[in-house]
Amino acid sequence: MIDTQRSDYFMTIGGQPAASLSGATFEAQEPALGRSMATVPLADKEDLDLAVAAARQAFDGGLWSRQSGQKRTRLLLKLADLLWENLDAIATVEARNIGKAISSVKGELTQGISELEYFAGAATKIQGRTNEAPNGFLNYTTREPLGVCGLIVPWNYPLLLTLRKLAPALAAGNAVVLKPAQQSSLSALILGELATEAGFPPGAINVVAGKGSTIGAQLAAHAGVDKVSFTGSTAVGRSILEAAKTDFRRLSLELGGKSPALVFADADLDSAIPSTVWSIFYSAGQSCDARSRILVQRPIYDAYLERFVELTGKIRLGDPLDPKTHVGSLISPEHRASVEAYVAQGLAAGARLIVGGGRPSDPALAMGAFLQPTALADCRNDMSVVQEEIFGPVAAIMPFDDEAEALRLANDNAYGLTASVWTRDLGRAHRVAQKVRSGVVTVNQPFTVFPGTPFGGFKQSGWGREVSLEALGEFTELKSVLVYTGERPLDPFRLG
Ligand code: TAP
Repeated sequence: MIDTQRSDYFMTIGGQPAASLSGATFEAQEPALGRSMATVPLADKEDLDLAVAAARQAFDGGLWSRQSGQKRTRLLLKLADLLWENLDAIATVEARNIGKAISSVKGELTQGISELEYFAGAATKIQGRTNEAPNGFLNYTTREPLGVCGLIVPWNYPLLLTLRKLAPALAAGNAVVLKPAQQSSLSALILGELATEAGFPPGAINVVAGKGSTIGAQLAAHAGVDKVSFTGSTAVGRSILEAAKTDFRRLSLELGGKSPALVFADADLDSAIPSTVWSIFYSAGQSCDARSRILVQRPIYDAYLERFVELTGKIRLGDPLDPKTHVGSLISPEHRASVEAYVAQGLAAGARLIVGGGRPSDPALAMGAFLQPTALADCRNDMSVVQEEIFGPVAAIMPFDDEAEALRLANDNAYGLTASVWTRDLGRAHRVAQKVRSGVVTVNQPFTVFPGTPFGGFKQSGWGREVSLEALGEFTELKSVLVYTGERPLDPFRLG
């Protein structure tokens, strides 16, 4: 069983627990209490080289890449079982490490392990097909693993997003080097230990901890890495794209979002209002798919705002480990300051503060990076609070007159991850779902992804799809095999 109070963590390299070669460490933080909670190795390029070499060995030597699909299924399920057994302990560590409410963290771990089980099943179902070919020829395709995959994960859903990448990568037969965000490394380090306990061959799963600007960038540019799967900010995504250019390294990029919720006057407001409150304030707004722009049709605008404020007032902010807490702290005081700066910009540009806007007055929360759920009404599309990803508990709300205007406002943004439509008009629901430029559209409900449903963005929200079977395509190369089956000898130049 995982010890939730332990103070030392190790990386996993080549199936072994590893400190950094230099002996350097960093302190993992507990942002709700403003203190450190554990010591973690700080890897540099030498540690990373060892991890990539171990992964290469597991892949090139066939220890992992040539295991049967059935064996991969069994090991992935074994890892899932160990995660289920330790769910409460891992959730406690993760909630402390990122300040998120434990009820949310448990839900996310449940989703992550379910995704792992989904891809465990998929390991035996990686298929090619036969294609039409001229008489005397046979064409079939196979899907082959890519090699060594570098997985770079942000801090907002640490273990969930780790499993989201790890599961399809391993199911397809790749070896991985995982780099969690420095602010949220602990659950990934635990995962490395559990992978060894599950019996994965040495080097199939390597976990290194350290700074994004050093080992993250080095992993993204490493000559021993065939593919990088990155989730994080659009700015870092751009630098990863740049690093991949040299040798056309394969890439998946899950980037930022500024997702809209479109609430039409005929919507069932008893669902739409609590759900739009949830879909911005869940995870203190630190979600790539947060519906942070809320567009409300004018006839119901005032009534919507009134009820939105009332329900937002019921959100319980507090100790992440209290099961009754809805929303915990932000990831760090620095991040809170950036969110507060956005609120100030919105107000200066003419938005109207209708709820929140400051830090909670409860003295018990004074040491943590807490911020009240905040909503700005009467926003306009030219405001930074509407165009830019704040990644905090700030809703930008604005009115619209008709469907055409709602779509114009919704699509006037650099991102295109998720959109929600709220209406009782079936034709309109499907019309808007077709016309809104985003990778996921949710209709009359706020949940964006379940194991098996595709997730990923249009426009600057990234490249590629995760969670669904499409993710196997992201972690495999397609090979076309073209065979001559004719009876007569082949003489393409007609020389004979
Ligand atoms: P980033 O700063 O981009 O960090 C993400 C990961 O990249 C971290 O592991 C980070 O390491 C690492 N990193 C930082 N600089 C790097 C570099 N130069 N080269 C390689 N790796 C580097 O993002 P964040 O602020 O942690 O996370 C929030 C962002 O993630 C938001 O924009 C959010 O929308 C996005 N996000 C997107 C999705 C999807 S599915 N689209 C899901 C969740 C989050 P360190 O943290 O250790 O420096």
